[in-house]
Amino acid sequence: MSEDKTSPDRNRESNIDSAAMQDADMQSIHSPQLKRERKEPHERQSPIPISLLTLISLLAFWGGYYFSNYSQDFRWDAYDPYAKGGLGEVVVEEKTLAEIGARVFRGQCVACHQNSGLGVAGAFPPLVNSEWVLGDEERLARILINGLNGEIAVLGDTYNGNMPAFGPHGLNLKPKQIAAVLTYIRQTWGNNAPEVTVEALEGYHAAYGSRTEPWTAEELLADFPMK
Ligand code: HEC
Repeated sequence: MSEDKTSPDRNRESNIDSAAMQDADMQSIHSPQLKRERKEPHERQSPIPISLLTLISLLAFWGGYYFSNYSQDFRWDAYDPYAKGGLGEVVVEEKTLAEIGARVFRGQCVACHQNSGLGVAGAFPPLVNSEWVLGDEERLARILINGLNGEIAVLGDTYNGNMPAFGPHGLNLKPKQIAAVLTYIRQTWGNNAPEVTVEALEGYHAAYGSRTEPWTAEELLADFPMK
């Protein structure tokens, strides 16, 4: 029995030792795992990576391209095979030249020549009954494509202003738009002259489109005298 008196003490010591050992073991066993743990989250904003930005903008660009090619003007019946016109064919109502011309006139000419076509006395000459409107077609087309300045007599009154060019060196209307507006002014307000065709205007565009100077009435009359 007396031998055994020391044994609990010794036992305790060795227990503490082994407990200390275990602590060290534990740490060494877990340390790789501790190291592997993720970084602490922080509050700063992190910038969007360039690669992601590039990807997004490429996608947006492609999307725009796709829409512009395949959206069919977002018509509800564009992909409806049973819609009028059938198989995705888009039906566009045909407008007459004079109808297209009316729109061009309202957009481009009313400010000066007025809705009535009567112009403004002393500043903008009338188109109603004007020999320039009803007369030679090519002379008229030249005025529109290249513009006009200097003195001009219209229906007995003299004007001296600037008519802007609507051809490639001016406000750049297409031959069809000019043919349309000329047809309109020749056939409205009681005016009655033949229509000006798109083909004719394409020819005049080819002939006069590169000219950068406006015409004078004198030049026009030299080439196309009044009848
Ligand atoms: C900024 C004002 C202005 C605009 C816009 C304008 N014109 Fe003129 N137009 C004039 C002036 C000014 C003259 C006379 C030029 C001159 O004095 O040499 C004229 C002359 C004319 C003439 C020959 C004279 C006549 O009265 O018959 C015709 C035709 C004509 N314009 C048609 C048009 C048409 C069509 C448009 C629209 C596509 C148009 N003009 C837009 C100012 C304008």
